[in-house]
Amino acid sequence: MKKEDYKMAFVEDTKDWCFSFAPGRIEFLGNHLDYNGGDVLGMAVNAGIYCLGVPDCENKPPENTKSKNRFSLFSENFEDAVWEGKLDNIERQDEKFSWTNYCLGVLKELQERDLAPSEGFRLIFTSNLPTSVGLSSSAALELASALTILQLAGKSLPTKELASLCRSAENHFVGLPCGILDQGTSAFGKKDHLVHIDCKEEIFSNLPIPLDTKVWIFNTGIKHDLVDSLYSTRHQECMEALEIGQKSFPENDRLTKFTDEQIQSLSLPANLKKRAIHISQEQKRVSAFRNGLAEGLEPYELGKLLAESHDSSSLNFENSCSELDYLSQELNQLTEVYGARLTGGGFGGAVMAWTSKNFSQTNAHEIVFAYKEKFNETIDWHQFESSDGARIENLLEQPG
Ligand code: GLA
Repeated sequence: MKKEDYKMAFVEDTKDWCFSFAPGRIEFLGNHLDYNGGDVLGMAVNAGIYCLGVPDCENKPPENTKSKNRFSLFSENFEDAVWEGKLDNIERQDEKFSWTNYCLGVLKELQERDLAPSEGFRLIFTSNLPTSVGLSSSAALELASALTILQLAGKSLPTKELASLCRSAENHFVGLPCGILDQGTSAFGKKDHLVHIDCKEEIFSNLPIPLDTKVWIFNTGIKHDLVDSLYSTRHQECMEALEIGQKSFPENDRLTKFTDEQIQSLSLPANLKKRAIHISQEQKRVSAFRNGLAEGLEPYELGKLLAESHDSSSLNFENSCSELDYLSQELNQLTEVYGARLTGGGFGGAVMAWTSKNFSQTNAHEIVFAYKEKFNETIDWHQFESSDGARIENLLEQPG
């Protein structure tokens, strides 16, 4: 068969297949501001999750009505086995198949809006995104699933609603009270840009990131079982601080609106006061970064805000740990590093470093070596480029 004939046969066989990609994200600045209605800066990275959707009923005999209700999920990256379920009975999964909850939550949200296929299908995932590194593979999984399932149903959604639906899946089905940072950044990413999100109004925009700068991730690999519950505790503490603060300052509808003086004047328990200070000052740092970027401030000036953010996370929000503090401190003293800070939820995870183009792999190895000396553990590092956001991909245009 000639190459062109192969291609035609492939096109014929795969005409109903659907394909999407969603990138991972780096939280650039704005720690724990999203669910507090603040402003955050994220960056979509050049690695993510691909999702192929194949309608299942196409070649089945019509009497096989059972298959119409069945669908399956497979990912070689998460668990090298197929998970099967029924469209009319979607339930939370545990243990080795807990990764499917991100897809199942999305499917449920789509079903509730009448945007899901009524017949069975298969979703097949593949990923070049390192997991458990703080790059939000969960949001990438949600967005890639949503885009592919929508295509299978012959439907579509505006990007903003797509991000919001995926967040809702994570809040309600997975059960994490996260904000819109992860899904919003993965959805609205743009090459050579950061994603700015006004999380109160859910307004998304892109800010050009200075060229000749690089972004690195140093992953401690520390993740303990309590991370999700510690995240929820911080969420709860912020809500409590707001409730108490509003009794004295009812005009402030969110924690980011309080000034330092107002917070100091409140009789808050010590932990709540610290959380409130972090949120209020972190919001100022995001605004200063954004304004500085617009005014053309040098990256080494802007980068100081990242280092300050880390210190505040460590001292006030108390979501750092000695390993993250060490990495941040080591990185922030290098001239090639504009700013380094813990990224994402915290309590372990990773530090991101925004650097000049002179920061090299040798520098990265030196950091890894110093960390090994200090903690007797080997950590991994990754360098990323900014990338475009979640998108439908044309199967025939994929390399290989
Ligand atoms: C996690 C959550 C985000 C955000 C960050 C902290 O990544 O998923 O919504 O709250 O933590 O800024």
